[in-house]
Amino acid sequence: MPRLLVTGGAGFIGANFVHYWLREHAADRVVVLDALTYAGNLGNLKTVAGNPQYRFVRGDICDRELVEGLLREESIDTLVHFAAESHVDRSITGPGAFVQTNVLGTYSLLEAVRKVWLGERTVARHRFHHVSTDEVYGSLGPDDPPFSETTAYAPNSPYSASKAASDHLVRAYHHTYGLSTTTSNCSNNYGPYHFPEKLIPLMIVNILHGRSLPIYGDGGNVRDWLYVEDHCRGIDLIVSNGKVGEVYNIGGRAECENLKLVQLLCEHADDEVRARPELHSRFPACPASRGESAASLVKFVTDRPGHDRRYAIDSRKIERDLGFKPTVSIAQGLRRTLAWYLGNEDWWQSVMDGRYQDWITTQYQRR
Ligand code: NAD
Ligand code: DAU
Repeated sequence: MPRLLVTGGAGFIGANFVHYWLREHAADRVVVLDALTYAGNLGNLKTVAGNPQYRFVRGDICDRELVEGLLREESIDTLVHFAAESHVDRSITGPGAFVQTNVLGTYSLLEAVRKVWLGERTVARHRFHHVSTDEVYGSLGPDDPPFSETTAYAPNSPYSASKAASDHLVRAYHHTYGLSTTTSNCSNNYGPYHFPEKLIPLMIVNILHGRSLPIYGDGGNVRDWLYVEDHCRGIDLIVSNGKVGEVYNIGGRAECENLKLVQLLCEHADDEVRARPELHSRFPACPASRGESAASLVKFVTDRPGHDRRYAIDSRKIERDLGFKPTVSIAQGLRRTLAWYLGNEDWWQSVMDGRYQDWITTQYQRR
């Protein structure tokens, strides 16, 4: 049975992946290594805490001794690497942490597995799966073909540059040392446990509180949205059946302009809140509680510096070779996500404290 080390498993996608894996592969061992930065939260893993197949270790991926010890002690044969600094706006105000975790952290993990898997031969077969992003390919014009696995890298933000560097390191460890690697480059995820600094959860929380909905620039930037569980399934297909040394793009075939996406979310929120009178007393400032529309909260703000205009993913390779297909449409996914945030107010209230609030306040002053 596979024995997994999941880095960044207390973050948004990592936690969804841990839930997914323990459900779909109940006999496998899953060890989570996470530093619990502002983005990591043990509350994201509360529902698996009692599972004997699961173990949580708080630690930094840059701590090579700790990682080597876990690889040996747990006989880890599969490492799924999510841990990263992930928010583009933060990379613009403070790129150092992105270089540290995304570049040096990935390098440190690669060195640890090189020593233990290739040097000490602790396991018969191994796999290092690197979770990356479509942002490494840069920005598309309106009529450009979507990003494929052979699109040239052209990262534009400190975040995407740090992810691009980590992708290159993973590739090099495969080619130079024969490490069994796979890499996935995925489009924008959304769903449960998404930290409310990213577009969709931020808009949900602001709608419920009747706060303005900040749209960067003209709102015409395009992202390709994928429900997080579909991403987890795509990673499973690659880890289980993907070809060693290969890269797979994962996308939702769901391109949408930011303004349209936010308007769609406003419509869903209006419908939901209007239909449920108990929400009127819980969220009295929400426009729908007062008979108004959430779209009235939209506010155009200063654009993100270097803001990539359009991302789109050509996911034909993973569809053809591994049978991947997104199963959740954007309308279904937004409704599910909204329902999750309405049912988990404690979660988002508790993660939106301290350092996050300080940072977001500075952001709004900047505009
Ligand atoms: P996230 O910010 O929600 O979670 C990151 C997790 O990594 C957190 O739990 C954090 O505590 C942990 N972490 C950070 N630095 C660490 C360190 N030095 N050592 C150990 N743990 C550390 O991120 P996410 O949105 O879940 O993204 C996960 C991965 O998927 C990232 O590699 C990201 O680049 C990639 N990705 C994200 C998206 C998306 O839409 N969110 C899309 C494609 C790819
Ligand atoms: O494409 C994959 C990437 O998607 C991941 O690699 C990143 O980790 C993830 O954060 C995400 O990056 P984006 O920059 O696309 O996501 P974000 O949610 O920050 O923004 C989505 C779009 O919405 C983007 O065009 C910027 C815009 N935006 C964002 C915020 C937070 C706004 O207009 N207003 C906002 O307040």
